[in-house]
Amino acid sequence: MPAPSSQPFCASSIIGTGSYMPEKVMTNEDLSKIVDTNDEWITTRTGIKERRIAADDQATSDLAAEAARRAMTAAGVKPEDIQLIIVATVTPDMFFPSTACFVQKKIGAANAVCFDVSAACSGFLYALQVARHFINTGNRTTALVIGAEKLSSLVNWKDRNTCVLFGDGAGAVVIRRAEEGADAPGRVLSTVMGSDGNLADLLKVPGGASFCPITPENVDSRPNTIHMEGRETFKHAVTRMLEASQQALAIAGLKAEDVALVIPHQANARIIGAIAERLNLPPERVFMNLDKYGNTSAATIPVALDEANKAGRLKKGDVVLLVAFGGGFTWASSVVRW
Ligand code: ACO
Repeated sequence: MPAPSSQPFCASSIIGTGSYMPEKVMTNEDLSKIVDTNDEWITTRTGIKERRIAADDQATSDLAAEAARRAMTAAGVKPEDIQLIIVATVTPDMFFPSTACFVQKKIGAANAVCFDVSAACSGFLYALQVARHFINTGNRTTALVIGAEKLSSLVNWKDRNTCVLFGDGAGAVVIRRAEEGADAPGRVLSTVMGSDGNLADLLKVPGGASFCPITPENVDSRPNTIHMEGRETFKHAVTRMLEASQQALAIAGLKAEDVALVIPHQANARIIGAIAERLNLPPERVFMNLDKYGNTSAATIPVALDEANKAGRLKKGDVVLLVAFGGGFTWASSVVRW
């Protein structure tokens, strides 16, 4: 492992983005054949039309590694340049080793230190902030931050309240040290994070770990799948994402009207619409791709960032607002100058 640099207090810039979505598409019509639902209900309540489902032999690290390779290609860095890999996920390959270690092996990033971050749908922005601390204090210069999920492995396909919402996918960014004051594109200007463990029960996978191991007696009640109080989650998501956005903008010395594009966590078009309305942002300044992918938890923001980037929606100097909310509850927001 390279010796940590002694150069302190630098800034971090996103220098490359990448994403990978599994090939298999599951439409609302497909879902209506396995649970009592329909395209009209799913579309009007959530905005989701279809989602991607990973192959049986694809683990979260496979999706993550492919997204990472694409981000490294875009950034023009080699695997050996990567000094830190953080994977945000709630669907790790295994309890341990970390999914980040599997990604390291798959992409050949021998010089990286690797670990996972668990903050549900806020995971990518939490991981971005952790990586930023490593870089800004001079501890590392180049990092891969990945959000990757195989949520199809956590879904109860008999529960219509939840199974229609989620999908699989991965997104990644390469971030690198930028000198303070330098006009580096992709610069992360601010990040805020918050958590409220008092509300942990509203969105959780209660079984399959130390609190409630799977036993022959409880296996049929599927405790190892997603349980959610949808309406309560919805209300908190709107409030917290709005607050976090306003705080991250204030720290960066900016206002909502300065934002060229907001890339929100892709859970529900109505949540996104409510936030955009309160920030007074018109639809053309709000990125949405949840119609194609559903909610891929920690992957939504890096996937959307990569798609917005590839689609030419991000111009040099644009202010980009990233904001997320998820189980925990957790929330986070970042402002990036593209
Ligand atoms: N198809 C048809 N009917 C359904 C379905 C379905 N898939 N799911 C629920 N229903 C029924 C319910 O049974 C209920 O019927 P009833 O009135 O006869 O009891 C009716 O639809 C209304 O159910 P609600 O749960 O009240 O519906 P709501 O309008 O709240 O929408 C939803 C549900 C979409 C889950 C919404 O609450 C939501 O999006 N919440 C946010 C949760 C979220 O996105 N979580 C993801 C993780 S956190 C995050 O990423 C922000």
